Amino acid sequence: MPATMILGSQWGDEGKGKITDYFAGKADVTVRFQGGTNAGHTIVVKDEKFKFHLLPSGVLHPEKKSIIGNGVVVDPKVLIDEIESLLKKGITPNLLISERANVIMPYHKMMDSAEEKLRGKKIGTTKRGIGPCYSDKISRYGIRMIDLTDEKALKEKLRTIIPIKQKIFQAFGEDTVLSNDEILKEYLEYGKKLKKYVADTSLIIARAFDDKKNVLLEGAQGTHLDIDHGTYPFTTSSSTTAGGGCTGSGISPLKIKEIIGVVKAYTTRVGEGPLPTELKDETGKHIRDRGGEYGTTTGRPRRCGWLDMVVVNYACRINGFTSLAVTKMDVLSGIKKLKICKAYHYGDRIINDFPANPGILEKCVPVCEEFNGWEEKNWKEVVKKGYNALPDNMKKYLDFISSSSKVPVGIVSLGPGREETIELK
Ligand code: GDP
Ligand code: IMO
Ligand code: MG
Repeated sequence: MPATMILGSQWGDEGKGKITDYFAGKADVTVRFQGGTNAGHTIVVKDEKFKFHLLPSGVLHPEKKSIIGNGVVVDPKVLIDEIESLLKKGITPNLLISERANVIMPYHKMMDSAEEKLRGKKIGTTKRGIGPCYSDKISRYGIRMIDLTDEKALKEKLRTIIPIKQKIFQAFGEDTVLSNDEILKEYLEYGKKLKKYVADTSLIIARAFDDKKNVLLEGAQGTHLDIDHGTYPFTTSSSTTAGGGCTGSGISPLKIKEIIGVVKAYTTRVGEGPLPTELKDETGKHIRDRGGEYGTTTGRPRRCGWLDMVVVNYACRINGFTSLAVTKMDVLSGIKKLKICKAYHYGDRIINDFPANPGILEKCVPVCEEFNGWEEKNWKEVVKKGYNALPDNMKKYLDFISSSSKVPVGIVSLGPGREETIELK
């Protein structure tokens, strides 16, 4: 059976959690394949809100398997807290964690903060240790989940790593003192608690394919935060795009049948970096308040702007989306005139393809198409009647998205709940 991937098309927080939860009901296995506790995926089920940083958004279907793949960086303390808070709610996660996943250590979080202080231009990271953990993985200093269950291996690794980290902190002028013994004790304890979940997850996914099961791959962050394809250096440190789905879970690209791009009906961004359609006016503030655009992980207000099809079309190219899930259409209700950016003016040139050069991007001025808005409605009731019941102006807005991207809209989301979703067959 083929796999379906769900990816962010913008700068994260597009509603991937909601869309993953929606599809997880039909899948047998849901896999998170990259990122770490920088992610914040909110799911609303029967008016109850769940916020996950590490647990795959399929976890609320406990009869199905949830997997944290090898490409994720795991903060074991946060993961244990998430598991325990679900258990308290009577939900037993049916979870497995890749033995190959790298572990976020205390020095990664300290280094994340120290590097932000030293950088000329801040990235505005979540300070969850993501960049330093991925850097160690690539430098081959990483601690992996499998090490947490092997005292001898962990001891030996820490004996090499801790003095190196200590020297780096000193060179940075930080007075941090790292205690080898304390870190060892703390992380072995995490290992004990998590041991029963640690497994060769790519093998388990392969067996699921053999058994004709449906596999769902859940991305974190968004295309423009991708380490290769995003607005570098204002990105995260992992591959948030379709290729990352395969390396981060250990499956062949040939298994992927559908790639759903989640597109928020407008654009948001947390942290620093370019955002060509940013609205620094009352409309931007209105969208932020109506959309509840405050970071799930850090609580920071999200910067808001008009939908930018240069951004989305780039994501379509990089990922090969087979359909789009357009979220938060309800949030735009009541705005008389809406805009969608379709290209950029750069001097006397028109740019249609998202530029890599930050100097060019900075000077780009959005070229927008204007749309008449739609009134606020009881969207739950409208959803029950299906796509045809949507206001004509909303349909025109959605048509523009699919004609500009040349990708069909497969899902329209009109609220945070499972039932506030229209699937276009
Ligand atoms: P993710 O990181 O992509 O999973 O997105 P977040 O969970 O960080 O942010 C999306 C927010 O919007 C969450 O609070 C969701 O509950 C909410 N949400 C998702 N889809 C919709 C929608 O269609 N309408 C509204 N009003 N809220 C939505
Ligand atoms: P979800 O999965 C939005 C942003 C941070 C910062 C940059 C680098 O909820 O969509 P990092 O801590 O990763 O080194 O920070 O990336 N960022 C996100 N923005 N949604 C996310 O995840 C994000 N994860 C990281 O704000 O600008
Ligand atoms: Mg989020």
